[in-house]
Amino acid sequence: MGDARTLPRKVLLGVTGGIAAYKVPLLVRALVKAGADVQVLMTPAAHDFVSPLVLSTLSGKPALTELVDRNDGTAVWNDHVHLARWADVLLIAPATAHTLGKMAHGLCDNLMLACWLSAECPVYIAPAMDLEMYRDLSVAGNIAALKKRGVRMIGPETGELASGLIGEGRMTEPDDIVAALVAGLKSGSALAGKRLLINAGPTQEAIDPVRYIGNRSSGKMGFALALEAATRGALVELVAGPVTLKAEHPGIHRTDVVSAAEMAEACKKLFTAADLAILSAAVADWRPATVAGKKLKKKAGMEALALEGTEDILAWMGANKRKGQRLVGFALETNDGEAHAREKLKRKKLDLIVLNTLGEPGVGFGHDTNQVTLIDKGTAARHLPLMSKADVARAVLDRCETLLSNA
Ligand code: CTP
Repeated sequence: MGDARTLPRKVLLGVTGGIAAYKVPLLVRALVKAGADVQVLMTPAAHDFVSPLVLSTLSGKPALTELVDRNDGTAVWNDHVHLARWADVLLIAPATAHTLGKMAHGLCDNLMLACWLSAECPVYIAPAMDLEMYRDLSVAGNIAALKKRGVRMIGPETGELASGLIGEGRMTEPDDIVAALVAGLKSGSALAGKRLLINAGPTQEAIDPVRYIGNRSSGKMGFALALEAATRGALVELVAGPVTLKAEHPGIHRTDVVSAAEMAEACKKLFTAADLAILSAAVADWRPATVAGKKLKKKAGMEALALEGTEDILAWMGANKRKGQRLVGFALETNDGEAHAREKLKRKKLDLIVLNTLGEPGVGFGHDTNQVTLIDKGTAARHLPLMSKADVARAVLDRCETLLSNA
């Protein structure tokens, strides 16, 4: 699987004071390798078992312990509300009996517990303790109370414990914790197991063996959509024009094409099996009517370049879609965006159209950010603020989940 980005999420990792904390450096490595952005929070007791320097270095961010860090007379507040809102996932590993008790009873005497109380994201605990402690009725009661609140358990496993006893209480191994988080992203997603066709990037229309007509699309938006869909468990067919990007997920099968005709051929073939198609590629609208077999000589001068239209892939899909199949298009407009996008939505028989308006800073071709408006048949247009293309992909796919649930 190599460096597959199966967990492109912001993870708050709470580390508590148990012997299993010696495995946390490996856990941080496994999370980062899976594509996670990790912020470590430590309880004061965790410092006895693992070095904050190691965790800061591996995560690339200072491991935080105190609500207020006091250095040389200056004080810095580690804002627990902001940290909790930043996170997509809160993972507490290892979770000791003491921390589980405090979590179950709303006690809040450290930064990590303040983040837990503020968190609205999914919360996972990987308990680790000796078997008698794990069997204790009060611990079992605390875990039951946390599960009732929606906290998800990872482990503990049965095996040799630090005490030398054999039994239940071992923290789940780092790679298996990552696998549980990845599985958690898929469970409950309407995209899990669905077949998605996504196209991305520009096309190039040859003039001669050297020259072509192209456009400025980087493919970043389409690749972000493919990664997010695969993260949610979709089986993604990604048809990419000439781009320099990598599709880093085992759930993505990629087909590379160059011209609009190749893009059309590949997409039309894959459309039959798709539950949902998202056409984000900037397909050329015109191509040279004839392609010179040899490089055109400058001296001969350029005659007027005769162009002919390419096939509109999206319109073809709209005309040929079967019942229950969902179709999402993109529209790039410079003026009267919403009116043009609504007209395209209707004409091309789309379920959703994503409108980009060029001209704003940070928007469109080549940027890592985008600002879009989501428009469908029934509801009012939803204007999203400027955000990363990864976050735009999440918003678009949230809408697609609703479309598929109603299919
Ligand atoms: N598209 C396509 N095939 C083409 C051209 C465009 O599938 N040959 C798709 C794009 O992938 C995008 C949508 O159509 O999802 C919108 O493309 P756009 O160029 O904005 O719309 P057009 O229908 O070409 O309208 P116009 O050029 O008049 O704005």
